[in-house]
Amino acid sequence: MKGIILAGGSGTRLYPCTISVSKQLLPIYDKPLIYYPLSMLMLAKIRDILIISTPNDVGNYEKLLKDGSRLGLHIQYAVQETPRGLADAFIIGEKFIGDDSVCLVLGDNVFYGANMSRILERAMASIEGGGASIFGCFMKNPQEFGVVEFDEQRRVISIEEKPKKPKSNYAVPGLYFYDNQVVNIAKNVQPSARGELEISSVNEAYLNLGQLKVTLMGRGVTWFDTGSPKGMHKASGFVKTIQEMQGFYISCIEEIAWRKHFIDDEQLRRCGEELKKTEYGKYLLSLPKNEEEPT
Ligand code: TTP
Repeated sequence: MKGIILAGGSGTRLYPCTISVSKQLLPIYDKPLIYYPLSMLMLAKIRDILIISTPNDVGNYEKLLKDGSRLGLHIQYAVQETPRGLADAFIIGEKFIGDDSVCLVLGDNVFYGANMSRILERAMASIEGGGASIFGCFMKNPQEFGVVEFDEQRRVISIEEKPKKPKSNYAVPGLYFYDNQVVNIAKNVQPSARGELEISSVNEAYLNLGQLKVTLMGRGVTWFDTGSPKGMHKASGFVKTIQEMQGFYISCIEEIAWRKHFIDDEQLRRCGEELKKTEYGKYLLSLPKNEEEPT
């Protein structure tokens, strides 16, 4: 399976911060925002990754993550000339996807929870025979997002975009697994009233084919959409608190690469040395001595 991170967009809700800097390069507490969605792909053991961003910003992502070999990954880059919508990822990424299935994660989505690897692996396995797999995250106020409507058997009936009266508390986050049909489906999506190729149109196409699976994430998973100053602040505070209380870092990409055996002790040590003046670097250097991870 291939992975795509969509890290373009206009970021107008974060102006003036994002007039000159891409949103996904801004920090969530102690690391760039893009580390968080990247870590989701890595937890799913997806190592072939395409990062899509604007003509202005794509070079900065390349400066940050290079070809990914430092993390045992293979990272490529592509440009989205204008923010045409999320479904554009599959048109831009057509060659990269090839004959494979694909996971799309939005560059500004932050997830944290127990059993994340298992949740992702199950979603991947669920589309081995074809189809799409998306998630529903329990939210007190899901109105700002796509909201899943179910029947009594918990089968999806519809996904309503930004409903005034949501029919459930489950919002659809920016993490989606698709089989190879997605490229053709995306090519046939018509721009919405706001002129974008909407991901909800892609999901609707799978729903109409009877091939859309939704996994519900309960209180064990926390999801932040960091597109606004409040969202960024909330996510930063959450990461700081958990890291200080538990001593384990959230979405530390070098740690994940090491725990998943993409890199060995020596490669991890080198990553730590590069950053050794920081708490982050010291954390990396301490890992092999403190190998046990809580379950
Ligand atoms: P949004 O938050 O919907 O849009 P935005 O980033 O342009 O922000 P704003 O609404 O404040 O102007 O985008 C969700 C994610 O998808 C975000 O990480 C940016 C990315 N994105 C693209 O890369 N290309 C696109 O065409 C769009 C619409 C979004």
